Amino acid sequence: PFAWYQQMRQNDPVYYDEGQDVWNVFKYDDVKRVAEDKDYFSNAVLLPDIIKDSLMGLDQPKHTLNRALINRAFTPKAVMSWIPKIDHIIAELMDAIDGKQQIDIVQDFAFPLPMIIISELLGIPTEDLEKFRAWVSTLTVAPQDNTIEEYMRIAQIQAEASQQLIVYFQHIIEIKRAQPEQDIISDLIQAEENGYRLSPEELMGSCVFLLIAGNETTTSLITNSIYCLNQNNLFETLHTQPQLIPTTIEEVLRYRAPVQRTIRKVSQNTEIGGKSLKAGDYIANWIGSANRDEDHFEQAELFLPSRRNNKHLSFGKGIHVCLGSQLARIEVKAALTALIQKYPNMRVSSNYQIDIAYSNIYSLKSLPVELGKST
Ligand code: HEM
Repeated sequence: PFAWYQQMRQNDPVYYDEGQDVWNVFKYDDVKRVAEDKDYFSNAVLLPDIIKDSLMGLDQPKHTLNRALINRAFTPKAVMSWIPKIDHIIAELMDAIDGKQQIDIVQDFAFPLPMIIISELLGIPTEDLEKFRAWVSTLTVAPQDNTIEEYMRIAQIQAEASQQLIVYFQHIIEIKRAQPEQDIISDLIQAEENGYRLSPEELMGSCVFLLIAGNETTTSLITNSIYCLNQNNLFETLHTQPQLIPTTIEEVLRYRAPVQRTIRKVSQNTEIGGKSLKAGDYIANWIGSANRDEDHFEQAELFLPSRRNNKHLSFGKGIHVCLGSQLARIEVKAALTALIQKYPNMRVSSNYQIDIAYSNIYSLKSLPVELGKST
């Protein structure tokens, strides 16, 4: 999409697509404003029923109340306390690929890692993990092609999976209500602020949304990282200079953002880039384009692992800024560090096929890698 973004930034940076009935915003300052300016741009967009009561779909004042409650489970202290768990899960995935010459980064690493982490943090019993994993895979499966039939088939299997997931979560919530444990679901059940608590729908929406928001995005970030490191021959560099891994991850976020665009609804008439938008209009807000805006990033089209002051918009901005960004950063840093420390000569296989999934998340369907000699 990057060549298209560039053209649009130059020629028509606030563009109305008649076919799709949606405005498209491409320049950094405009994208940032649409993300941030909650008085003009609403998140009450068409979300599936199961997550419409999650943070993502709420506006103020409800959003503020809910976010304060859910935030409690994601304090910096809480996130730091999860590190040993994360390291342990990564060590197990590393053991599982030990001795293999070739792996698929997506299937063997990038997909299972966030999935196992979030289920442990939510407090899903280990014996349910496989079942749980199957539902989540179905909920985030990407269509094989762009046909209506394929979209209908996906909608059907996803409706069934979400129904099963709801029943499952209801059961888990009941158990944890009776007997709270040290996990996010128990925290959400008990969280109270000035007499306000999450309603049953909000609690359910939050559980499902945490599951969906944190999985495919993190899978994408790990996959896109390996892809960018390979393209730029950076495995050995990062092996000898692991201190560069954090800025490299920020650059992957900028360069190949997992979430390329978010959706907003205009709530009051306004102007962007000289165009008039009416209340009720929809906007596709192109984060992936903002991240490559030449007016904001020097050498915007280059991947620079030690880029400074990298103010990409990949976790959003304003009141809806990603709640899991620190968790995602820690997970991905630990995963890349483990892989690069052990396999400094790894390479994406020369016969790989880039198979961009037809989903909202920008990633690769599979990414075969030759691991090379291990240290
Ligand atoms: C919101 C990206 C990982 C939980 C967002 C938004 C973006 C985003 C762009 C803002 C959406 C909008 O403005 O409409 C990402 C990326 C991730 C990631 C790129 C990984 C690389 C996670 C993880 C979790 C999480 C691991 C939790 C376990 C959330 C939640 C929101 C959110 C709850 C909604 C916040 C609100 O509306 O107040 N994320 N996310 N995300 N993310 Fe993430």
